Amino acid sequence: MIGIFDSGSGGLSVLRAIRTRMPSANVLYFGDIKNAPYGEKTQEELSALTVHAMQFLQSNGAESIVSACNSVSASLAVSLFDALNLASDRLIEMVGPTVSHFRASDKRVLLCATPATVRSGIYQNGFRMVGRELTAVAIPALAGAIEFGAGDVEYERIIREAFSDVPFDAFDTLVLGCTHYPLVLPVFERVLGESVQIFDPADAVAARVEKQLWPREVGDGRLQFVISKDSAPFRARIKELFPESIAAIEVVQ
Ligand code: DGL
Repeated sequence: MIGIFDSGSGGLSVLRAIRTRMPSANVLYFGDIKNAPYGEKTQEELSALTVHAMQFLQSNGAESIVSACNSVSASLAVSLFDALNLASDRLIEMVGPTVSHFRASDKRVLLCATPATVRSGIYQNGFRMVGRELTAVAIPALAGAIEFGAGDVEYERIIREAFSDVPFDAFDTLVLGCTHYPLVLPVFERVLGESVQIFDPADAVAARVEKQLWPREVGDGRLQFVISKDSAPFRARIKELFPESIAAIEVVQ
C-alpha cells in the first residue's frame, strides 16, 4: 500500500495524478488538517510533523510513502530512512522530480511556494545543482486559505499581493511549488494571463511514483482517507475529485 501525506487537501492534486497512472494501487491518504497550514511553521515543527505523519502511515500498513507536501521536503533527511526503517527507493517527495523536469530546459523559471519552502532554499539549491537559476516567491497564507475554503476573491487578493513586485515578462514558466495551489488553478490563470505558462509538478511526481513503485504496488485500487480534524472543505474536495470514496474518510484525533 502507498501512504500519501500532506497538511490537508493539497496532496489530493498529487493523488489525482497518481491514480491516473496507477489506478490499481491501494492508497492510504493522511491529511494533517489539525496542524495545517504547514507552510507557516518552523523547521523544527515541520520535522516533528513529518516523522509523525510517516510513522502513522507505516503503522497503518503503508510500505511506500509519497510526501505530497513541499513544505516538509527539507525535513526528509537521509537519517530518517534508518530511523523509520524505510528503503530510500520507497520514499518519493516533490522537489527531486520537479527539478529533474527542468534539468534540460531553457525556460526562465519562477516558483511560488509557502514561506517554509522558500525559506528552506531547497528548490533554489536543487536548481543550482543542475546548473539552472530559479526565482522563488513565497505566498504567505494562501495554502491555509485554500485548506479552509476562503473563496476565490480571497485567493486572488493574496496571489496578487505576493506577485505585486514580480515582472512576469522576465519568466516563461511559473512552478506551483505547493500542492494546494493547483486546487485553485483558474485563479492563478486569471492573475497571470497568457504570458506565463503554469507548471503543476503533480504529473512529474506521479511519473516518478510509477517508475519506482510499479508493479510492486499493484493492488485492487482501494482508497482510504484519514484526517486529523474534520473539515467540510476537505469532504467537498473528496466528493469532487474521488466521488467513489466519499465513505472512506476517517477522522482520528
Ligand atoms: N501542500 C503543502 C505544500 O506543498 C503544505 C501547505 C501548507 O500546509 O501550508 O507545501
